[in-house]
Amino acid sequence: MAVLKQLPVDAFPRDFAWGAATAAYQIEGGWDMDGKGPSIWDTFCHAKGRVFKDQTGDVACNSYQLWEEDLKCIQQLGLTHYRLSFSWSRLLPDGTTNYVNPKGVTYYNKVINDLIANAVMPMITLNHFDLPQALENRGGWKSPEIVEFFDSYAKFCFETFGDRVKLWITVNEPYVCAKLGYEDGLHAPGLKEPGTSVYLVGHNMLRAHTRAWHSYDTHFRHLQGGKVSIGLNSDWAEPLDPDCPEDVAATQRYMDFILGWFACPVFCTGDYPESMKSRIQAKSLQFGFSEGPRLPEFSENELSPLGTADFFALNYYTSRKVKDTSSHPSELSFTGDQGAEGVTDPSWPVCGVSWLAVVPEGLHKLLNYIKETCNNPAIYITENGFSQIGPVELEDTDRCQFYQNTLQEVSKAIRDDGVDVRGYFAWSLLDNFEWADGFSVRFGLFHLDFSKVELKRTIYRSGREYAAVISRHRTKLEKT
Ligand code: BGC
Repeated sequence: MAVLKQLPVDAFPRDFAWGAATAAYQIEGGWDMDGKGPSIWDTFCHAKGRVFKDQTGDVACNSYQLWEEDLKCIQQLGLTHYRLSFSWSRLLPDGTTNYVNPKGVTYYNKVINDLIANAVMPMITLNHFDLPQALENRGGWKSPEIVEFFDSYAKFCFETFGDRVKLWITVNEPYVCAKLGYEDGLHAPGLKEPGTSVYLVGHNMLRAHTRAWHSYDTHFRHLQGGKVSIGLNSDWAEPLDPDCPEDVAATQRYMDFILGWFACPVFCTGDYPESMKSRIQAKSLQFGFSEGPRLPEFSENELSPLGTADFFALNYYTSRKVKDTSSHPSELSFTGDQGAEGVTDPSWPVCGVSWLAVVPEGLHKLLNYIKETCNNPAIYITENGFSQIGPVELEDTDRCQFYQNTLQEVSKAIRDDGVDVRGYFAWSLLDNFEWADGFSVRFGLFHLDFSKVELKRTIYRSGREYAAVISRHRTKLEKT
């Protein structure tokens, strides 16, 4: 029996965006084709010992050459929206507008035009982890210069593609990029600089986003009428012991250090959460850190991040129970600053990767939390998914159940709680290059056989069932 067929589609608004998402480095391949410059992920993967079995995104799903196969997948699902990212260094090989790669422009023009011809609305992420290596060589996200480079790139994209693209995300998951790339060294550029660079990188991402949003607002919005946001990921967190005040406070810190870090400046106050400011300052004192504030301050002379999002772009995967660790001995580090540890509840099933406890009701609670704390924004769930590790079954019934439960929770948030959810993007359209896990972890609605050059796309049962939900929603609309 098809589980997703039981989903009541009535709760979803008429113009609900039914989408799937991907990111350039994870699917495109063609890493040095047709004038593309290298990105930090090319460099990271080409160095040995960083990624599962030293795999790389050199070819990935070869979407650079097989775009039309992806389009068939999109058509088969009946998506109304498709979220993809631009490879910055495919468009601007050295990261700057000094030289534009015409073949990169041609590629993305074709993708966008094909989508629109098929009544699929593109949502474009300008930077999904793959910073041009040439800019990394100039200091990357740690350098204040990056704000100018990002703004020029964003303006170039708005100018070139904004007549057709109406939904933009500037930076994907600054939390993950800063934490895994500069604190833990698990993602590109692979730096381990605990307790310092992470905040600087986050700050520069926020400043870059702010500049780009203002550029759009000033120069493009009146001509193009689109919307711009920043892609924020968050777990949902609850206290491990709800009767323990320390765990309750730690839970708030846990949320503040992941979601509030960016959501608070953009949606609430124009500044970082108080808990971050006070904890980081106290820890700096404790460790005798005297090289200036580790958490940068927003300057009066700069544009404020407050109000720089036309919708809330939320990536949700999992939940945690949180215990207080604020008095545990620690090194100078992000986790030490946070003073909170998230653990999984033994009753939660885990899918594929150990971090991914499957908790659909966490999304429901998180949606309500965003409604309450971020001034009831319009929300697009820009990523959410369920992973499998090989050998995988095309009859992925667990994943079907996951989508059923998740969409049920989303529908409850809309119908029962009045959360303004505008769309849902499954991560991911295709099995793809899952960063440090290489091709071992599969999130796709379509299966790929990475051992064969054809890289044939084959729909999973979860893909068929997701398509059935979309089709039922569309049929219902036609009748009313
Ligand atoms: C990222 C995706 C990634 C997914 C699953 C998100 O953090 O935006 O690129 O594949 O999580 O790990």
